[in-house]
Amino acid sequence: MAKNTLSFVCQNCGAAYNRWQGKCESCGEWNTLAEEDTSGSVPVSIRSKRKGRTFALESLAGKSPDAPRLSSGMTELDRVTGGGFVRGSVLLVGGDPGIGKSTLLTQATSMLARAGHRIVYISGEEAVAQVRLRAERLGLSDAPVQLAAETSVEDIVSTLSEGAVPRLIVIDSIQTMWTDTVESAPGTVTQVRASAQALIRFAKKTGAAIILVGHVTKDGQIAGPRVVEHMVDAVLSFEGEGSQQFRILRAVKNRFGPTDEIGVFEMTGLGLREVTNPSELFLSERDLGTPGTAVFAGIEGTRPVLVELQALVAPTSLGTPRRAVVGWDPSRLSMVLAVLEAHCGVKLSGHDVYLNVAGGLRIHEPAADLAAAAALVSSLVNAQLPTDAVYFGEISLSGVVRPVAQTPARLKEAAKLGFQRAVLPESARGDAGGDAGLSLNAVNSLTTLVAEIAARGSRRGESGASAEKNATPARFRRSEG
Ligand code: TYD
Ligand code: MG
Repeated sequence: MAKNTLSFVCQNCGAAYNRWQGKCESCGEWNTLAEEDTSGSVPVSIRSKRKGRTFALESLAGKSPDAPRLSSGMTELDRVTGGGFVRGSVLLVGGDPGIGKSTLLTQATSMLARAGHRIVYISGEEAVAQVRLRAERLGLSDAPVQLAAETSVEDIVSTLSEGAVPRLIVIDSIQTMWTDTVESAPGTVTQVRASAQALIRFAKKTGAAIILVGHVTKDGQIAGPRVVEHMVDAVLSFEGEGSQQFRILRAVKNRFGPTDEIGVFEMTGLGLREVTNPSELFLSERDLGTPGTAVFAGIEGTRPVLVELQALVAPTSLGTPRRAVVGWDPSRLSMVLAVLEAHCGVKLSGHDVYLNVAGGLRIHEPAADLAAAAALVSSLVNAQLPTDAVYFGEISLSGVVRPVAQTPARLKEAAKLGFQRAVLPESARGDAGGDAGLSLNAVNSLTTLVAEIAARGSRRGESGASAEKNATPARFRRSEG
């Protein structure tokens, strides 16, 4: 007989060890190992006696009913799911506590219930009264959503097996669910995995769509059930800066639609409002006329999004200067700084550098390199960039500005929002298609752009022709030795 298999499971990534250790070798987190019974959900005695049943094998060409989708009625949500919730699919919505997951799902479920579908909302975190209070605040109390505060997966499955199959079931949150088939405490990886498995089985069997809510840890991973990410059909992440009103729903994985598509919302006193033109929103509070800002023409999923990058470069009082970045990859910033220093003679080792993406958006595209570099240099030389220009382009380690995808879409969005010019990679000029209505400033290398901005700085700064004569201002010259 196999003996009880207790082992130590990392609560962050799910790696299992047979003895305790301080650090998980798989994900590098400290103090995340907890003792769990990992013998699996079915007792070994039953498992070994059960005779395998036979099942029919099918051909690829077989006709399956095409994935019928349940449109939520919220355009931004539908965009991210790829057109609505697919029957029998399971979707994980991750996000920081307090970001608005329950609010979003209350709104979506209410709309669907009003449209006549059977919708169930199971809250494992809040009491029925709390959920009702939220619905009242959102003005959705009259929606016929079926509500319960429950945490036992077996109870939930037996309750939902009765009556008509619900079209959509929300489980808020998967971390609070537990099943008797495993012995670990609720919230542990084993429990979360087993509970998710049971719910996924229910979804596939009945054809109900299920949304699992999951919390994320400080480094943005869906806590504990990273394992769940592999089991579900789609993973949506709900992001935003706590202090900002904007919330971004992003598809990280989607078996039935595109990934990297974003939906933009604004948190108001009356719940989440959909933002159909994110560029207008991200540019609505622009600091016109301040050095250190550049507008990046980006692409999120299939949609162009214009956003302002703000940089502050200031002399440091510390031995090691600070580099802080919000909304962009810190290693990308280090790379741009290194290229500026190595190829353009911009000395930044004595300066603190801060970079911020306005509006709480997180940029994942390397195409933001050029805009970041422009903002940084503009702040350093205290020269304002033209307010009617957008920037995009990837910077290579050699300082060459490389082309990026979807140039026409970026230019079209910029023109639509009233921008007059675009600074873009030389090699992308061909794709631009001439009819964008913008004046194009194609740059081949970062050095060219730096020289242009520096020239603006010196014209503005020091008086007279002496500054003009000096093509490279003093702070750009490489120090000897
Ligand atoms: P919630 O949906 O409970 O977050 P989560 O489920 O992700 O933990 O949202 C909580 C926050 O949203 C809370 O700080 C209050 C704010 N909020 C509003 O600003 N307006 C509203 O209409 C609602 C319902 C919440
Ligand atoms: Mg919640």
